Amino acid sequence: MILPTETVYGLAADAADPLAVAAVYTAKGRPSFNPLIAHVADVEAARRIAVLDDRAQALAAAFWPGPLTIVAPVADAAAVCDLARAGLDTVAVRVPGHPLSRTLLTAFGGPVVAPSANRSGRPSPTTFADAMEETGPAAAAALDGGPCRVGLESTVVALLPGEPARLLRPGAVTRAQIEAVIGPLAEAEGDAKRSPGRLALHYAPDAPVRINARSAVPGEAFLAFGPSDSPFNLSPTRDLAEAAANLFAMLRAADRTKPSAIVVAPIPDEGLGEAINDRLRRSAGYVG
Ligand code: TXA
Ligand code: MG
Repeated sequence: MILPTETVYGLAADAADPLAVAAVYTAKGRPSFNPLIAHVADVEAARRIAVLDDRAQALAAAFWPGPLTIVAPVADAAAVCDLARAGLDTVAVRVPGHPLSRTLLTAFGGPVVAPSANRSGRPSPTTFADAMEETGPAAAAALDGGPCRVGLESTVVALLPGEPARLLRPGAVTRAQIEAVIGPLAEAEGDAKRSPGRLALHYAPDAPVRINARSAVPGEAFLAFGPSDSPFNLSPTRDLAEAAANLFAMLRAADRTKPSAIVVAPIPDEGLGEAINDRLRRSAGYVG
């Protein structure tokens, strides 16, 4: 099912049903070694499927419902099937904030896997129309929750026994917000086993993407940040939350004009900018 969340639209399935989960991998064209996030209605439901230590519980109390995903040891390997976890002994879990997804999760009762509803490698959909264009035809049902408020995927933090907390994917909850609750985060870079989905060339439109650019030449589409004449502006007032909310929809809108390249203005690397720049580097094909 096409499921709205506050971050991006997901393609959702019963996490306990390997056939339903397999259909999600197929619809996305996603490699089956890249595990999925299990979405649940509340922290009690999260504790039934994952072993949440003190750090994880502090983060859950601070940011759930909301755009944070916690990777922890799996507590119920049948509730989130092997295929959904890509065979790992850990599980990624989050309580989304969008009212429609919470209603659905409460009514369903069990964990629901929901990767972003894009086909693998493409920008995540942040509107109902974009989600329907990406994987809608493969879904048996679809919920229209309007445009996603946040527009960038959840932050993924691993909290595993005997290991420092690791940032696996920067996202809508910033590094500083997390460190304010549990202290310094370790880097996940190079830790391919624990962050199997961190492949280069991700979030990519059809046109090549050039980042940290001051201007574009004719035929190119320019995504501005700050005052500009360009028809595409991530945030005329240089507001990072607005830029995050606009990023994927604007990459898609620019792509539809069939430019020779999409050229993106520099984005400051602070706060939400870390996650925006992570997505932009990957859409441009740089290994992060
Ligand atoms: O905001 C979001 O998180 C959205 C919405 C729909 O909830 N979902 C999303 O899912 O972005 P997806 O599948 O596109 O990204 C999940 C990320 C991948 O980078 C994956 O590798 C990582 O979470 N992940 C999932 N399970 C993991 C695990 N057990 N260990 C490490 N990383 C894991
Ligand atoms: Mg994704």
